[in-house]
Amino acid sequence: MASQISSSPSVKSPFIQSHSVSLRIWHWLTFLFITGSIITVALNSTLLSPRDNVKLVQEQLQRKGLTATEEQAFAVSHEYEEKVWDVHKLLGYGLAFLFLARIVIEFTQPNDEKVRSRIKRAIELKKNPENKAEYIHYLRVRLSYAIFFLLLFCMVLTGLGMAFGRNFGFTREIRGVLHNLHEIAQYLIYIFIVVHLAGVVIAENRGIKGIVSGMINGNKHEH
Ligand code: HEM
Ligand code: HEM
Repeated sequence: MASQISSSPSVKSPFIQSHSVSLRIWHWLTFLFITGSIITVALNSTLLSPRDNVKLVQEQLQRKGLTATEEQAFAVSHEYEEKVWDVHKLLGYGLAFLFLARIVIEFTQPNDEKVRSRIKRAIELKKNPENKAEYIHYLRVRLSYAIFFLLLFCMVLTGLGMAFGRNFGFTREIRGVLHNLHEIAQYLIYIFIVVHLAGVVIAENRGIKGIVSGMINGNKHEH
């Protein structure tokens, strides 16, 4: 069967595969929530950075006839940052929900769209020397998604740990460790996004045309 497929001129790339409506909605919501989350982080470390805004608050108060110490001005500038962290937390709860939703989707997917059966099929088709390179590539891309899910799981656990740690009696030290893990994992997520986007653009330009529209229209007509 494998050789028949590979010798057929109408063979489709393994990347041109159908995606259920729920997976597509999940993908684009995850894209929006992660992008939103990154925007809040970027805002707080640039425009709303409390340390950078201390001078601004002091100057504005001075103009209105009030003199504020650095500590007093920091209390104000810090509040703006907190408001944005509140948005970050809300987006974070959304991401925690999306993480769980992806697991539920996996169980409710049509059988041939389940990750397990896709990987099994790819390993099978990889045995054919003609297909080998293509399916090794496919399996590597799948591995990158598995790494992303682990990273997302890590963000969700450490994020929820920071948000609700006090209620569970986590000490300051434990919350500090969660904070550090959260900060480190963020960079790995950025690396995934850059590699993912570069991969999609390169694939589209190297002949695997239509993978992006497949994530929109589901490639259902292929079946
Ligand atoms: C992939 C998405 C995410 C990225 C890139 C991200 C990044 C960050 C970064 C860089 C900080 C740094 C805080 C600092 O410098 O003090 C932070 C804080 C935080 N994140 Fe996330 N995060 C993500 C997802 C989540 C999730 C899923 C949650 C779960 C609720 C969450 C909850 C929090 C909380 C509670 C804080 C502490 C905010 C504060 O200091 O008040 N984050 N995040
Ligand atoms: C925050 C940004 C993004 C994240 C975290 C992300 C994550 C993911 C994940 C986890 C998958 C695998 C889905 C599965 O089968 O379980 C995926 C597939 C895909 N994504 Fe994204 N994505 C992002 C942005 C984008 C953008 C902007 C595009 C299009 C320009 C895109 C195009 C695709 C395509 C075409 C696939 C299917 C490719 C394949 O079959 O391997 N993604 N993405």
